[in-house]
Amino acid sequence: MTNEPPRPTRIAHVGIAVHALGEILPFYRDILGLPDVPLDDADGARIAGLHAGDSLIELLEAKSADTPIGKFVAKRGSGIHHICFAVHDLDATLARCRDAGVRLIDTTPRLGAEGKRIAFLHPASTAGVLIELTEY
Ligand code: CO
Repeated sequence: MTNEPPRPTRIAHVGIAVHALGEILPFYRDILGLPDVPLDDADGARIAGLHAGDSLIELLEAKSADTPIGKFVAKRGSGIHHICFAVHDLDATLARCRDAGVRLIDTTPRLGAEGKRIAFLHPASTAGVLIELTEY
């Protein structure tokens, strides 16, 4: 490890569950003017990434109904699915969450899209927002 000062937590991406990427991508890309960036599929979803400054918008389309995004869209329709924060030290942040009694979906980090370690927090502990934590 280096002696870099801690970097401030920032929004890495906002995940938006959609029925069909092709229907909504032109709005974000062509009308709002967000440059698109290729992203790998993850958790059974096709992902269209769009640069929004230092953050990304991730449009998430389920590959099948039995995936997390498929279930979300079936139950609630399209909409904001999660917010991902990049933190300086994922393990330390997850430990602080655990110590504070925050309900964890992933008790230890796992590999997410872009090959980065991630962990999800349960919305019951975060004012109803599904939160993903990742590293810088
Ligand atoms: Co995400």
